[in-house]
Amino acid sequence: MNISAAITAVHGSVPEKVLSNSDLEKMVDTNDEWIVTRTGIKERRIVSEGTTLSDLGTDVVKGICEKRGISPLEIDMIIVGTVTSDHRFPSTSNLICHKSGATNAWGYDVSAACSGFLYTLITGQQFIVSGQCKKVIVIGGDIMSSIVSYEDRNTCVIFGDGAGGVLLEPNDEGNGIVDSIMKADGSGKDYLIQKAGGSAFPVNKENVGTPETFVYQEGRSVFKFAVTNMADVSAEIMEKNNLTGEDVDWLVPHQANLRIIDATANRMGLTKDKVMINISKYGNTTSGTIPLCLWEWENQLKKGDNVVLAAFGGGFTWGSVYLKWAYNS
Ligand code: UT7
Repeated sequence: MNISAAITAVHGSVPEKVLSNSDLEKMVDTNDEWIVTRTGIKERRIVSEGTTLSDLGTDVVKGICEKRGISPLEIDMIIVGTVTSDHRFPSTSNLICHKSGATNAWGYDVSAACSGFLYTLITGQQFIVSGQCKKVIVIGGDIMSSIVSYEDRNTCVIFGDGAGGVLLEPNDEGNGIVDSIMKADGSGKDYLIQKAGGSAFPVNKENVGTPETFVYQEGRSVFKFAVTNMADVSAEIMEKNNLTGEDVDWLVPHQANLRIIDATANRMGLTKDKVMINISKYGNTTSGTIPLCLWEWENQLKKGDNVVLAAFGGGFTWGSVYLKWAYNS
């Protein structure tokens, strides 16, 4: 029997502090009506000072271990998809292993912006399928409030903080990850970037606090690429696996914009009740959106359900994953 990598537990962690559209109206020239109609976002969560991505990730690991009834010592590997690691190094994965007591685990961070969770999931899959690991936790999460300027209305209304993760284990029942299509095109860098802070443009005393040190997005261009590519790659994975809209039980889309989600669902021929959408509550948590949806919908997912995950983000990076859900909660 072929071994596949299956999700066997999910957990999420969002900060308590809510930043609503009306809060943002007091900070920048925006309004609730614009934000809701253009994006679908009503509020987002923001960490309090001192809370880091490794704190949220540690909650995720502890929650997963509790649900699955295992010790953190049994975890072989923790991989984290993020663009807002606690530090440039050591990796947030290393910090989470330490803080959660997963001291037998190794791992690293993966940078793929909003596709971070999918990239990480497919990376984790390889370690399960090869037989090298039995238990891999993959986490997607970002503290976007640490890199967004709350003076820039183009970006600050969109992003929020949060993290989610899943446990991957071997499955011999025919469930788990079936197929994936992953893409990248670095020519997208000019449209969505945090320019400063890397070796090409280090932060120094001259540029600290300038727009280059925060997220820049040319929204309209990114929208066009996102709406086309996320819908195309989702349709492609359905075609490749002979799936119709009827066959797909759930679409779990990256939550960047309600209009992009709707376009993807329409292209796939899905009714709205099959689409996980929580953008109104959390905004765009970058790598966090997909696992946070899985966490919220975990009780509704049934063993054998056909689930398609889809994302598009900075890089550009994008992709879709087709999996068969492996358990009933
Ligand atoms: O997650 C990773 C990938 N990212 C995405 O997929 C995001 C893709 N892009 C988008 O979701 C949308 O482009 C945005 C939500 C970012 C922007 O929506 P839009 O419909 O593309 O608006 P726009 O940028 O074309 O701006 C329309 C107008 C402009 O005013 P003028 O030039 O028409 O007078 C903007 O200045 O809205 C203005 N505007 C705002 N008004 C009120 C821009 N931001 C705001 C704001 N509040 N926050």
